[in-house]
Amino acid sequence: MRCPTVVATAGILCLAASSLRAGEPERQPSPNAGAIVRVVDSVLAGLTLQEKIGQLVQYSGGWSTGPSGRRISDEQRQIIRAGQTGSLLNVTGAAETHELQRIAVEESRARIPLLFGLDVIHGFKTTFPIPLAEAASWDPDAVELSARVSATEAAASGVHWTFAPMVDIARDPRWGRIAEGSGEDPYLGARMAAARVRGFQGASLRDPASIIACAKHYAGYGGAEGGRDYNTADIPQRTLRDVYLVPFKAALDAGAQTFMASFNEIDGVPSSGSRFLLTTILRDEWKFDGFVVSDWNSIGELIPHGFAANPGEAAERAINAGLDMDMESHCYRDSLESLVRQGRVTIATLDEAVRRVLRVKFRLGLFSDPYHGATPERERQELRNPAHVAAARKMARESIVLMKNAGSLLPLPPNLKSIAVIGPLASNHGDLVGTWAGPTDTNDVVTLLDGIRETAPGAQVTYVQGCSIAGAETTGIASAAAAARQSEVVILAVGESEDMSGEASCRSSLELPGRQKDLVREVCATGKPVVVIFMNGRPLDLSWEQNHVPAILETWFLGHEAGHAIADVLFGAYAPTGRLPVTFPRSVGQVPIYYNHKNTGRPTDDQEHYTSRYLDLPSSPLYPFGFGLTYTSFRYADLRIARETVKAADTLLVTITLTNTGLRAGDETVQLYVRDEVGSVTRPVRELKGFQHVHLDAGGSTVVTLSLPVDALAFTGLDMRHRVEPGMFTVYVGPNAAEGLQGRFQVVPQ
Ligand code: NOJ
Repeated sequence: MRCPTVVATAGILCLAASSLRAGEPERQPSPNAGAIVRVVDSVLAGLTLQEKIGQLVQYSGGWSTGPSGRRISDEQRQIIRAGQTGSLLNVTGAAETHELQRIAVEESRARIPLLFGLDVIHGFKTTFPIPLAEAASWDPDAVELSARVSATEAAASGVHWTFAPMVDIARDPRWGRIAEGSGEDPYLGARMAAARVRGFQGASLRDPASIIACAKHYAGYGGAEGGRDYNTADIPQRTLRDVYLVPFKAALDAGAQTFMASFNEIDGVPSSGSRFLLTTILRDEWKFDGFVVSDWNSIGELIPHGFAANPGEAAERAINAGLDMDMESHCYRDSLESLVRQGRVTIATLDEAVRRVLRVKFRLGLFSDPYHGATPERERQELRNPAHVAAARKMARESIVLMKNAGSLLPLPPNLKSIAVIGPLASNHGDLVGTWAGPTDTNDVVTLLDGIRETAPGAQVTYVQGCSIAGAETTGIASAAAAARQSEVVILAVGESEDMSGEASCRSSLELPGRQKDLVREVCATGKPVVVIFMNGRPLDLSWEQNHVPAILETWFLGHEAGHAIADVLFGAYAPTGRLPVTFPRSVGQVPIYYNHKNTGRPTDDQEHYTSRYLDLPSSPLYPFGFGLTYTSFRYADLRIARETVKAADTLLVTITLTNTGLRAGDETVQLYVRDEVGSVTRPVRELKGFQHVHLDAGGSTVVTLSLPVDALAFTGLDMRHRVEPGMFTVYVGPNAAEGLQGRFQVVPQ
């Protein structure tokens, strides 16, 4: 359900009317904070030095007693029994986790429950769209529900903690992990980050359907130079605070209990050893009282970074910076004891890290129910429960972006006699789940071909693959063109394989891989009406298709319900509502490209030589941030700003009249941007500050009111203070970051 209300603020929620409805966030500190402090301190007081260190060590699993038949080895049993680990990752299954937990709480001396962590990124057994796709819904309520479903399934399977949401801002589509985040914008990213944290953690962490969230990768990981994973991020502190850290703060405000330190360095300091990030900002400024986990081996990687000479130094720099739990580098396991004995790490520092970990375990209720309600029966009930699958279809429909629809080719008429379904992604199960799909079963994917056959049972559907995703062979292209010639309409599914985005999956090109370009060109040369469906984990270069193909849908990787969702859109059961959460460049040469850039002293003017531009390409993107079409059109008129002058504590109301000028009902996402005209430092040309979904019948018209809290205009000024600076602002209200009506207002001193 999308909110049809007409007043928007950054905070108004319109939760889906569903039994899966997520609740209000659990703010920290929790109401019984005093009691938790006392219990944590008393547990801590009973621990030996080795047991304390154990709480800060996380091992990877594969420690299964489950259907795989693998047994817990004596060595593994001994590690848990001796209290040498506080957490395991990559172990799932109610029965499997139960046995491991039983050893911890019944056979170890200290009886401290383990925390089971997993990358639950976009679904567990029911696979939802990749996070970038979900962000294209611009629907925080739907995204919250998606996270809630994931949490419900994962928790039933014994998982306590997800390494999500990934809230990294990404301005470079070459970077493979752009698939895993919410795109380029701090405001949209913050809304999505908060929604996901609320969904994972629920109204109460003690609810057996809740799992702990982890805001990652802290920080600046998305700024990887050249779009190459793990690379250095060169981010000035002001940009770090005003852009990259914004979604992290939103995750924290929504109650996120853990953060993950990132692999990259900024300004010579790798995050896993950055006291500035982990203590000054996170604890001193933001008052975070959960714990920080390293990324996989990121403490050990302080050595190749050249930030530590050996594992002992790496452990010392990390824990003294404020990094609490070591994921798999073993530096804490092997070095903390001697570091404490030598006085290089104080017992107070160690105790504080252990306290943070224990506190989160208490908040999750593990000391009263170490299994957190997971049982094989619950697991059977929850995994791929029909309500979850329905939520995945709804989320998938909302994630689709209509990029082009010349001559209103879409929606397709119901009485088509013949359809050619072509392309390496048309009848594909494995790739549609996307990166980080977790313990999914790809047999549960509804392919595009399945969806079309189900939705158009009267049509003769001919399927030809044409070519593979990345291979060099072209032999199937002729039969694809022949099938196209014999059909009324062609649906052509092209894109990337699931492993072309995600971790360590960066590309230097944004072009369709393999021979798919040839396939698209040959099929289009038949002159038949062609709908190209892109499936990919990043913005691709769609320039040729934009110029030559009548209809284009960007469908990312939509998960299990992909085929149903795309067919819903193709045949008009659902009119597209998605909007781009990231700019699509004309070519890789424009990268990095993002809408909230600076103006420069010589703003782009393609007619003027000495301006900031390219000789061989316009500076504008192919599709701007916020862009997306639907099956009707809208007119924006009559922008009114309630007051000409405001103060920092005010809320400004901005109204426009929106009219549905087409022949069908439709939804518009009305977007509000501002520009701070002159500052103590330069400001972006536009910044998104709010949006509102509006549903209008054909010919309908309504006044849309957007509210802008003036304090949302604050930024880090020349003096590094975060505040609103008095002066003139331009406000834009429109359908994307490149269009809109505009007006002005003034912020005057308080
Ligand atoms: C490395 C990835 O960077 C991180 O996102 C993930 O959570 C961990 N591995 C654990 O799988």
